[in-house]
Amino acid sequence: MNNWHVRPSDVLIATPPKSGTTWMGEILRQIRKFNAEAKGLEVSMIIPYIELDVPHIPSLKGQEESLPDPRIIKTHLPYEFMKQKVEEEGLKVVVVLREPKDTITSFYYHYCMNMHFSYPGNFHQFFELVRQDRLHYGNLFRLARDWWQARHLRNVLVVKYEEMKKDINEVVRRVAQFVEIPLDAEAEGSIVERCSLDAMRESIAKADKDKHGKSLIDVDKFLRKGIVGDWKNHMTRDEVDFVDECVHKYYEPVGLNFHV
Ligand code: A3P
Repeated sequence: MNNWHVRPSDVLIATPPKSGTTWMGEILRQIRKFNAEAKGLEVSMIIPYIELDVPHIPSLKGQEESLPDPRIIKTHLPYEFMKQKVEEEGLKVVVVLREPKDTITSFYYHYCMNMHFSYPGNFHQFFELVRQDRLHYGNLFRLARDWWQARHLRNVLVVKYEEMKKDINEVVRRVAQFVEIPLDAEAEGSIVERCSLDAMRESIAKADKDKHGKSLIDVDKFLRKGIVGDWKNHMTRDEVDFVDECVHKYYEPVGLNFHV
């Protein structure tokens, strides 16, 4: 996984699963597209994973050299796996973190929908995997905490999903500044429009159809509700208490919270 070389124009999106990875990918892609169009260049549609190498999901593996600049890549790996690339090779990272109850709720639907999981259980059965630390990618709280701890580095920008929901224009400006692409008001407005849930549902469905001749992704399930607080429709008191204890253990000592 470390067998690739950081290029100065690389941007990595690092997230615990279901935190807004695809949304940030689209924001970055649209910002880069705006910049490239001004220079008459193309921007790759592909945002490969570093660690995944499974059918129908773009992977960096085997494409390290062929993907053109500027690359946007993504990972759900823990910070310690990327530490050397970030701290020694100067890899630029946009981290997206999300309130954990909503992340877990979204992850449940991902487990049910995803062709590699096809999870047959109900939400409460799924929650047992959270309690037992048996989720794909491991402990969500530790993942988020460790990336959050890197936020003071100059080449790391941390954005919360809830901030994106509250003021997407502000986030687009912050991300554009981070990747050093100045936007005028018109560009900012059109990027915000193209990154709305509806616009993304449409463009992802179209790209999927163009590539495979039919839709492999159920876009309405993948970009499901896109709201804050859906956990309230799913969790029991006991499950909420479990998450609150994890928040107390992992997030409170490092000042991570999701009140925006
Ligand atoms: P829900 O399942 O709660 O709807 P990831 O890309 O990391 O897998 O995250 C997926 C989550 O981000 C889903 O959450 C999805 O709906 C939400 N999301 C994706 N694009 C979004 C957008 N443009 N606006 C709001 N939420 C979005």
